Amino acid sequence: MTDRADITVLGIETSCDETAVAVVRRLSDGTGEIMSNVVRSQWQEHAPYGGVVPEIAARAHLECLDDLTAAALREARIDLDRIDLIAGTAGPGLIGGLLVGLTFAKSLALATNIPVAAINHLEGHALTVGLTDRVQPPYLLLLVSGGHTQTVLVRDVGDYLRIGTTIDDALGEAFDKTAKLLGLEAPGGPAVERWAADGAPHAIPFPRPMLGRDEPHFSFAGLKTAVRRAAEAAAPLTDRAIADICASFQAAVADCVVDRVAAAIGLAREQLGGALPALVIAGGVAANQTLRSRLSDLADRHNVKLVAPPPALCTDNAAMIAWAAAERSAVGKLEADSFATAARARWPLDEVSAPVYGSGRLGVKA
Ligand code: KG4
Ligand code: ZN
Repeated sequence: MTDRADITVLGIETSCDETAVAVVRRLSDGTGEIMSNVVRSQWQEHAPYGGVVPEIAARAHLECLDDLTAAALREARIDLDRIDLIAGTAGPGLIGGLLVGLTFAKSLALATNIPVAAINHLEGHALTVGLTDRVQPPYLLLLVSGGHTQTVLVRDVGDYLRIGTTIDDALGEAFDKTAKLLGLEAPGGPAVERWAADGAPHAIPFPRPMLGRDEPHFSFAGLKTAVRRAAEAAAPLTDRAIADICASFQAAVADCVVDRVAAAIGLAREQLGGALPALVIAGGVAANQTLRSRLSDLADRHNVKLVAPPPALCTDNAAMIAWAAAERSAVGKLEADSFATAARARWPLDEVSAPVYGSGRLGVKA
């Protein structure tokens, strides 16, 4: 018989190109355990098109959700009747995939009489370190993925202040476009990182957009254009040229990110009135080793602890969705009626801070 404060959550994630289902248990002492974590990537379906095709993504989620859910329950050695809560990602992301996953979560909940929670994907990334490293708010989160690039002050579960954001492309997008320009295989980020290992980081003096600016925002569109020019200038591309472009691009990115996060650390400290215990990194690009080591040096210099979940929990997964729901449940912050919550393509973590110039969302409610 489970302690009433323990909670076992089935999580479902379908916001982009990974279909994921997981079972996570949160104990009454605040610790968590991943009982299963099943992820099916759709990269192969999208590869011929050079990017994620929303319609293909939605159909692929639909094809495998049944089987993945059965697999997650089997792996966790648990029956549905011992699940306390079903958590589905409601946004932000590709609307077709979100509709498939959230509708699946709600239908399963209705059929089994289990409550359902509609969870923000970014909150999943933001709270993962509670599960993996028992790190509690407050901390500064750097979220760098294919769709998002932002620094967020996590003040508490459900209380987020956006500090910096990209004014154009997301960082993962810049990695993916660089890979595509150079004819590298998908997914682009890991390919660029592999090639960069054999290149010279100072071979090409790529621009460092926003470096030294007071406001903590990011910009990567100019860097992408510079990569295109460098690739055109070096055509036909030799292996040496590809490696040098990748290494120089990665070095420029690392300089920019470190500088922008340094600015964000200052602002986070102001907000907290002094101490900032930890800098947390999440999102697919947080798997990049050059970035990790540069951020580790930055954290040392600023006397902040760097916490990075293992790469498999930095990229999209459903354990983070289940955990975010469990954390919300523990502090009484679950919505009263998640059945009424609709899927949303846009759903900022911080719904108060204004969109920034360049985001294309000025004056528009997200
Ligand atoms: O968080 P994620 O799995 O999905 C999104 O929510 O977007 O992030 C995927 C992104 C892709 O752009 C991918 O190229 C990038 O993360 N990525 C990397 C690395 N591994 C994945 N970027 C740079 N270096 C890596 N090692
Ligand atoms: Zn993500």
